[in-house]
Formats: sequence, structure tokens, C-alpha cells
Amino acid sequence: MRRTRIIGTGSYLPANRVTNADLARKVDTSDEWITQRTGIRARHIAAEGETTSQLATEAARRALDAAGIAASEIDLIVLATATPDYTFPATATQVQANLGITHGAAFDVAAVCSGFVFALTTAEKFVTSGAAKRALVIGAETFSRILDWNDRTTCVLFGDGAGAVVIEGYEAAGTMADQGILTTHLRSDGRHREKLYVDGGPSTNQLAGHLRMEGREVFKHAVGMITDVIVDAFAATGFSAGTIDWFVPHQANARIITASAEKLDIPLDKVVMTVQDHGNTSAASIPLALDTAVRDGRIRKGHVVLIEAMGGGFTWGSALFRL
Ligand code: UT7
Repeated sequence: MRRTRIIGTGSYLPANRVTNADLARKVDTSDEWITQRTGIRARHIAAEGETTSQLATEAARRALDAAGIAASEIDLIVLATATPDYTFPATATQVQANLGITHGAAFDVAAVCSGFVFALTTAEKFVTSGAAKRALVIGAETFSRILDWNDRTTCVLFGDGAGAVVIEGYEAAGTMADQGILTTHLRSDGRHREKLYVDGGPSTNQLAGHLRMEGREVFKHAVGMITDVIVDAFAATGFSAGTIDWFVPHQANARIITASAEKLDIPLDKVVMTVQDHGNTSAASIPLALDTAVRDGRIRKGHVVLIEAMGGGFTWGSALFRL
């Protein structure tokens, strides 16, 4: 059977690193509060004029280098973002142009913090069906642009960045020993809009708007939703907390990550945690964490990796793959 495998990862962070102490000079907060409640110690913030498509293009170039393929070999780009350069065209088409690609298709996916899982799942359908040969799947955000810097309950939580993977189709044996994406599970429930949203948009008030979040409410739902789709991934593949090699969760809050891992009996030494260095980078957080652990040698070819995310909408999802 045909499967889709990841053949390269890449990521990019803006140069400007902002610590909790830096923030505490501008916002009524403290390093102690942020560290204790979230695990975050620093985040990167895009420079003036630095756009989501620029971060995405850098991450994509690094993923292409890691895969050892030329941009011209890509015939699909699926980019997850909630902070596009413009309302339209899609940020993916800007990345396509930056990379000099003039064939195939490029489009954006909007699922906020779950964006990378939704984008990977979408691209996998194209590649596994044969509709595309090789795809770039990118999560890229400049959340600093939609933060209300007077709202200390949200502005300390997020950061900017981008991560990317290159995927390709191949003929696999059709067993759970195969390399590649072995299962994906996507969910959403629009009744939760008010708990996490941006108070602007072209058809509502013609503004880009600011992020609004009832953090405690989101927290309350997060662990249950995350564990549900992980249980689905385990049931679909026969893998378990004991047999996966790595858990690469969405990086929103160290307490949510630890609670989810503990609920599922996933040992903490199998958990990739980057929230302390990146903050919550929304759709970029999983590919950023994945690339970090691939490049530092923890995640290697043949390892079984579980990813999950939950965010605005609500949307949530999981995927399990062998690298
Ligand atoms: O990416 C997916 C979406 N996002 C998430 O997954 C985030 C989910 N939620 C969370 O991570 C947590 O709810 C937060 C980190 C946002 C907040 O942690 P919490 O333990 O739920 O705190 P809280 O909202 O209950 O606030 C506790 C206190 C409040 O003071 P009082 O009312 O107890 O006096 C806040 O005013 O902490 C205060 N507070 C702060 N203090 C210092 C809120 N923000 C800050 C701050 N610095 N930045």
C-alpha cells in the first residue's frame, strides 16, 4: 500500500529572544508567575517587518536541505497559520514564490494551534492518493502581532516561529512496521469559540483583532481532548504509551503537557518539551519541537512519534508516524 513518510524537518526562530524578565519590565508580571504557571522562560519575537511567510520560507529551506531535495521537486505546499501575511492571498503562495516554485498547488489551513496536525493530515491525503508527489507542510506564526500587550493573562504566553517537514509517497508493506504516517485523527467543536478567539476579521469589523482567551476554561478542556485523540491513535495502530519512542505535543503549557503524559502513562523522558524556550507558537510549535529533537539526535530514523494539539475552535487532533 501507498504511505506518506517524512523525509526532512526544518525550523526557524526570529533572532529577537525575549525572556520573562524582559517582559516583566513592560508588563505587570513576573518570571516566577510565568515559569510556575506555564513553564515558559523565553520566546522569540519577529522583528518589525518580519512576516509569517519569511519565517515559513526559512523553515522550509532548512527542511528541504535536510531532505536533500530541490524546491522544484515539491508539488504541494500546505501551510498552517492563524497569522497570515495578508487576508489573501494565502501565505503558502508567498512561500511558493519565495522558493521559486511555479507548478503544483499551495494553500493555507486555519486550525490555530492544531494547524500543523490538520495540515499534515490534509497533505498526507494528497500524497498517499498520488495527487501530489512531494509536499512541504509548514506551521508558521507571528502571534506577537495579534497579542494585546496590555493583557497580561495572554501576552506572556505566545511566541513567533516556524517549522516545516517534507513528505513524500512510497510503496509500503502495509504493516505497522512501515515508515511514515500510520494514523491521523482530527476533531473540532465550534461551540467553544468564545473561550479562545481573535476579536477581529474582514467580515466582522475589518480589523486584524487581538487574541482573547479564557485560559482556565481552555485548560479545563485541554487534557481530556488531547487524551481522547491519543487513545484513538493507539487504538488504530496498536501502539501504546510503552511502545512509542517519542511524544511531541503542542507546546502551550508545561502543566498541560505533563498532565496529558501522566494521564496516558507516557514516561516524561519520552516527551519533547520546548515550551520553555519558544512559548506557545501555535501552529509552529509541533514542527519546531520535532525539528529540535531531530537535530539534537534524540529522534532518529525508525522511531515512532506521536504528535497532538488542541486549540481555538476548539480544534484538536493527533497523528502517529514512524520517522
Ligand atoms: O494553545 C492552546 C490554547 N492555550 C492554552 O492551552 C492555554 C491554557 N491555559 C493555561 O495555560 C492557563 O490557564 C494560564 C497559563 C493561561 C493561566 O494559568 P492559571 O493557573 O489558569 O491562572 P488563572 O488564569 O487562574 O490566574 C491566576 C491568577 C489571577 O489572579 P487572581 O484572580 O487569582 O488574583 C490572575 O490575575 O494569576 C493572575 N495572572 C497573572 N499574574 C502575573 C494572570 N496572568 C498573570 C501574569 N502575571 N502574566
